Amino acid sequence: MADELNKGVLMLVAGVKGAIGSTLAAAVAVMRDNPDLVRPYLMTAEKFPYLGDPAGFGLAGWDVSEMSMTEALAHQGVLEKAVWAPYAERIEQVPVKPAPAAAMDLKSQVAKLKADIQALEGEFPGMTPVLVNLLPAGGCHDLDRFPTSDALYEGVRVPPLADLAYALAALEAGVPVINFSPNVLEIPALVDAAEKGGIPLAGRDGKTGQTYFKVVLASALRARGLFVNGWYSLNILGNADGENLMDPSHAACKLENKTDVLEGVLGYSPGMKNFGKSAHKVHIDYYPPRGDAKEAWDVIDFESVFGLPMSLRLNLQGRDSILAAPLVMDLARWASVAKMAGCAGLVPELSFYFKKALGEAAAVSFEAQLAALEKFENFCNSRLMEDV
Ligand SMILES: NC(=O)c1ccc[n+]([C@@H]2O[C@H](COP(=O)([O-])OP(=O)(O)OC[C@H]3O[C@@H](n4cnc5c(N)ncnc54)[C@H](O)[C@@H]3O)[C@@H](O)[C@H]2O)c1
Repeated sequence: MADELNKGVLMLVAGVKGAIGSTLAAAVAVMRDNPDLVRPYLMTAEKFPYLGDPAGFGLAGWDVSEMSMTEALAHQGVLEKAVWAPYAERIEQVPVKPAPAAAMDLKSQVAKLKADIQALEGEFPGMTPVLVNLLPAGGCHDLDRFPTSDALYEGVRVPPLADLAYALAALEAGVPVINFSPNVLEIPALVDAAEKGGIPLAGRDGKTGQTYFKVVLASALRARGLFVNGWYSLNILGNADGENLMDPSHAACKLENKTDVLEGVLGYSPGMKNFGKSAHKVHIDYYPPRGDAKEAWDVIDFESVFGLPMSLRLNLQGRDSILAAPLVMDLARWASVAKMAGCAGLVPELSFYFKKALGEAAAVSFEAQLAALEKFENFCNSRLMEDV
């Protein structure tokens, strides 16, 4: 088992030419010669010795864009060209398959993607494949009435979300799935396929910037018994994700994920006690001048004994894809370890990484999520270390 894993993790990315996907391509290429630019920023670099060299990632994927990988990198503008230009040839070698046509029926899309997965696995022999969903936020859907993938194939001709075909193809091919997008993939049919196939399905919606710090601060306020009366969050960003989220139907799941998380950590809805309604507001605004360099503001109103009001301001000047890419790399390592350790279905232990914690008794506070991660690491190591 250890030998099989030693060649590293192969990230199969749906949406590989997007802002995060192309940043991953640069990170994987640069890391081989210059690990210091990436490796120190991974949470898992010192973990899982049986996974081999943490710099040994493989990358492949799908996209609808016809740009070359380096054109996509230049277009996304996340990194200065000087950073990736010396590795341009290597970056162009990332195999990218065309996406299945949106009008194809679900079964044919899954069949095409499974053939692609098999071909890509053949190009990276000995690597452990993990499917990473980086498709744009889409609309909400209601596919809960289909308990199995057979029922899904029968009841759904053309999938309402492209992500479904990718996730289903991966699960049927025995490949773990990381759902970094806000799109709902934890429907009964997919969870059933993951459980029956012994495959982890982790998600949903990467917790990279504002929501990460929100969980940290909310956990700290709760631990001190400071009562939150209101929380106002504003984001501006100018990348394609930001533009896409201006469509209210596309933003709905993301806003729900960003909103629910606070109540989960605090154990109450801020505003309810004093105003009889929620005073947790989350806004996302597309602001082109910023590109990937997002900015977020939080205003937190809270009180302590005698009900005297206090207030805290947080201003995050982040970079969307620079925060996201290392989390994706860490998650790819966690997912392959989880599969090797025999985890099947939703993976609540990885809730640290996601805005929407999924799975039974998923931890919600910062300290509980970190503790769950540590426990999970020990569990996986106890299962796998004997093979090293
Ligand atoms: N950046 C962050 O911090 C962050 C945090 C949490 C979640 N996310 C989510 O991650 C996802 C990716 O973010 P991004 O900034 O890279 O988005 P992006 O819009 O830059 O990239 C999406 C890519 O998917 C491609 N694509 C569209 N339809 C496709 C299809 N059917 N098949 C294959 N490819 C297709 C697009 O051409 C594009 O290259 C989004 O859903 C975003 O909401 C991002």
